[in-house]
Amino acid sequence: MRHPPGCPRSRCRMFPCHTYTSATLLVLVVLAVVAVADQEEKHCDLVGDQATESKREQALLKKLEPLSTISFEKNVTSNAAEQYTYKFKVCREVDSSMSQSGLIQINLKDQKQTVVGRINETQVFNGSDWIMLIYKGGDSYGSHCRGEKRKAMIMISCNRKTIADGFTLLSEEREKEQDCLYLFEMDSSLACPPEDSHLSIGSILLITFASLVAVYIIGGFLYQRLVVGAKGMEQFPHFTFWQDLGNLMADGCDFVCRSKPQNTPAAYRGVGDDQLGEESEERDDHLLPM
Ligand SMILES: *[C@@H]1O[C@H](CO)[C@@H](O)[C@H](O)[C@H]1NC(C)=O
Ligand SMILES: *[C@@H]1O[C@H](CO)[C@@H](O)[C@H](O)[C@H]1NC(C)=O
Repeated sequence: MRHPPGCPRSRCRMFPCHTYTSATLLVLVVLAVVAVADQEEKHCDLVGDQATESKREQALLKKLEPLSTISFEKNVTSNAAEQYTYKFKVCREVDSSMSQSGLIQINLKDQKQTVVGRINETQVFNGSDWIMLIYKGGDSYGSHCRGEKRKAMIMISCNRKTIADGFTLLSEEREKEQDCLYLFEMDSSLACPPEDSHLSIGSILLITFASLVAVYIIGGFLYQRLVVGAKGMEQFPHFTFWQDLGNLMADGCDFVCRSKPQNTPAAYRGVGDDQLGEESEERDDHLLPM
């Protein structure tokens, strides 16, 4: 009896090899499903029960979902003595050993890990081109800020060039009585307002019209040249019609735009002159010395 390479003889004697492999596969699949289900449970939790959560916040979290697979990391050196690494994930645990950790700080000197914000205390809101993600419920401060829990605010600004980039610590405010915070920022196209079509209805109509005119001229030109056999200017479609129209328009413009008509109709001039003449004569009479 031949065994596949790598299969221990002792085991194969008890079970056929393929049974052993299938069982291993099954266990792996079950583990994977459990792991995925486990991960699914640990996402951002907003204030309140599922039913009472803000619809707007839920929509925003859904929008940010594509970022949840990315791990962000940033080294910050405030001075020679203080060096930290910040790790951040959108709506996922950064480190499963620290429950619900959404943003953690690692002191590079002693490797001490501190949770700055937890995903089970998420708040999120947006403006026209930014989204603010807030993780509360971090580890408590020691002497600072009356020992309140840490809070991380992550400002996500619109940048259409990247899905996620430039995660960085802006400032750490801890010299206050309360409401201390860690402020971060990053860029993402997800924070951008929906891109409205650059073409308004007016411009679409204009483009359609221009295309039709182009088709008319080119098509007509080819027809006149190839089918009718026209030469020179006659090749333009309906050339005489457009010539007439051009002349008509020129006349119209002449009539409307010119302040001094060059050839006013005779009848009009006659009537005007007659009346003017009589009036001026009458008026002149008064002026003559008696
Ligand atoms: C969030 O999770 C932490 C750690 O598991 C827990 O101590 C805290 O009470 C939770 N917060 C809420 C609002 O459930
Ligand atoms: C927030 O995002 C929603 C959904 O993308 C959007 O409709 C809304 O206009 C945004 N809010 C503001 C103030 O722009």
